[in-house]
Amino acid sequence: MSKGRILVTGGTGYIGSHTIVELSEAGYDVVAVDNFSNSNPDVLQGIEKIIGRKVDFMEADCTDEHAFGKVFCKYSDIRAAIHFAASKAVGESVENPLKYYNNNLRSLVNLTALMKAQKEASIVFSSSCTVYGQPDKEHLPVSESAPLQPAESPYGRTKQMCEDILRDCVKAYGNLKVTALRYFNPIGAHKSALIGELPIGVPANLVPYITQTAAGIREKLSVFGDDYDTPDGSCIRDYIYVSDLAKAHVAAVDRMLGNRNSDRYEVFNLGTGKGMSVLELVNAFMRATGVNVPYVIAGRRAGDIEQVWADPSKANRELGWKADTPIEDVLLSAWNWQKRISGIK
Ligand code: UD1
Repeated sequence: MSKGRILVTGGTGYIGSHTIVELSEAGYDVVAVDNFSNSNPDVLQGIEKIIGRKVDFMEADCTDEHAFGKVFCKYSDIRAAIHFAASKAVGESVENPLKYYNNNLRSLVNLTALMKAQKEASIVFSSSCTVYGQPDKEHLPVSESAPLQPAESPYGRTKQMCEDILRDCVKAYGNLKVTALRYFNPIGAHKSALIGELPIGVPANLVPYITQTAAGIREKLSVFGDDYDTPDGSCIRDYIYVSDLAKAHVAAVDRMLGNRNSDRYEVFNLGTGKGMSVLELVNAFMRATGVNVPYVIAGRRAGDIEQVWADPSKANRELGWKADTPIEDVLLSAWNWQKRISGIK
C-alpha cells in the first residue's frame, strides 16, 4: 500500500534523484518535476532501474505558475512537496544575482501558493549551512540556534529569504507545515552507480573535481588555501553522504504526515557532526580508491568559509535519523559513479 504521493521539484537533480529513490523504497509514490536546466532526462532511467518501476514525471519550470499548476491538476493526490528546484552555483550568483532571485524565489513562492491550496500542505525545503556564514568558534559545531550571518552571496541570500518566506507563510496559513533542512556538504553517489552528481563544465565543488582528476579529465586539483587557522591549514567542512541526506527527507515527510512535528515550522541541520579538511578528504579518497590525485596548493578561493561543521543532534533525536556511512564508502561511491560515466573499467 502506498503511503501517498510526494511532489519532488528538481527531481532529476543530484539530491532530488537520490531522494526519489529513498521515497520509493519507503513506500511513497512520487511525481517529479524538473525543467532540465541543470540535469537531463537520462537521470529518470537511472532512478527507474534502481527502483524497478516508472517514475511519474512532468517537465515544467517552477517559476512558470501556469505550467507548474498543471502538475497539481494532473495529480490531485499530492500529500507533501520536497522543493529542490533551485540554482546553486555560488560564483554564478555573484555574477548574475537576478537569475538567482528570479529562479529561487519565484519557484518557492509558486510552490507555496499551489501547496497551500491543497488540503494537506507539507513542504520540505532544501536549505543550506550557508545561512550560518562563518560561525564564531564558540558556535562550532553549529546548531540550529546559532545566529545567522548576512549571506556571503546572492545564492546564500535566496536560501535565507526562502526560509523567511516560508516562516511568514506558516504564520499566515494554518494548513501549512514546513521543514527546512540545512544541508552541509553532500557528496557521493547511489551505491548502484546508476545516479550521481553530474556537473556541467568544470566542477566548482571539491569531490567532483577530485573524481575528474582521478579519471584524468583534469590535470590536478587545486587545494584552495593551506594557511587557514585549522590543524593542517586547509578549510574544514562536514561532508555528508547524499543517500544518507536523501533518507532525512523521508524522515521529515513521515514526521509531518504523521503529525509528529512539534511546530508547524521546523529547521534541522543535516550533517555528520564531524569536520574534515580538504587535505584529509583528498587523502581519504586516495586511500579508499587506491587512485592517485595530483594536487597543488593554490591561493584561497574568494568567499570561502574557513571552517564549519554541523551539530546534527536535533535531527538525530527528532527525526530518528543519522548520517553514518563511513567516508571511505562514500568516496568509493563517488569514484564508482565517475568510472561509470567516464567508461573506466
Ligand atoms: C558551498 C556552500 C554550500 C553550498 C555550496 C553550493 C558554504 C560553507 N557552503 O559549499 O552551502 O550549497 O557551496 O555549491 O558556504 N575546494 C578546493 N578545490 C576545489 C574545490 C573546492 O580546495 O577545486 C575546497 C573549497 O575551498 C572548500 C571545500 O573544498 O574548502 C569544499 O568546497 P565546495 O565543494 O565548493 O563546497 P562549499 O564551498 O563548502
